[in-house]
Amino acid sequence: MTVPLPLGILISGSGSNLQAIIDAIGRQELAARIQVVVSNRADAYGLTRAQQHGIPTTVIDHKGFSSREAFEAALIQSLRTHQVELVVLAGFMRVLTPFFVRAFSQRIMNIHPALLPAFPGTHAQRQALQYGVRIAGATVHFVDEETDHGPIITQAAVPVYPDDTEETLSARILAQEHRIYPQAIQLFAEGRLEIRGRSVVVHNESRLPHVTLRVPESR
Ligand code: GRF
Repeated sequence: MTVPLPLGILISGSGSNLQAIIDAIGRQELAARIQVVVSNRADAYGLTRAQQHGIPTTVIDHKGFSSREAFEAALIQSLRTHQVELVVLAGFMRVLTPFFVRAFSQRIMNIHPALLPAFPGTHAQRQALQYGVRIAGATVHFVDEETDHGPIITQAAVPVYPDDTEETLSARILAQEHRIYPQAIQLFAEGRLEIRGRSVVVHNESRLPHVTLRVPESR
């Protein structure tokens, strides 16, 4: 029996990705244990989700600190106190500085609602609609010292339709986020991820021949 991977999950809002991780652990598809959920906002609904599952929660409000580093030092202390091995950013709306990134080097994951490197930053789904792409998606990546930039672990693509709104596209992408984030964490837990420069090698990766997503689909 393998030891569950100790996770620390950072949130700022709804926490639906947190819920997907909780559910994947519950279904025994993810060999992990959430040691603590940390929010920078006291009103984040994700805190309620965690508490409903008996997961320890902490609020560390960035507004109470004089600098980003002081805020991050408090985050680091909490994560270390809870013996976290992998930091999971799940809708955490603060940019992390190199100070934090170095404290958990190659042990921080983020999910972004776009096919990076397209549309980094905020309102990625709105950016995709405004650009007019026909395929959008989600990316799970390791965090490096630049925003939405680190080595990519997994991506999922979805179609974009002409009548999409930011809400409909976001919902379609979010459904994929909920699938790929627990999978990426499980790959880490199994020791199958190896960072080589900008790339992530997934050991024993299965391959599907001739899988394409064409939008619009031709008849
Ligand atoms: C997700 O779209 C995630 O990709 C982005 O913020 C959103 C968080 O949603 N970084 P939730 O809090 O997990 O519901």
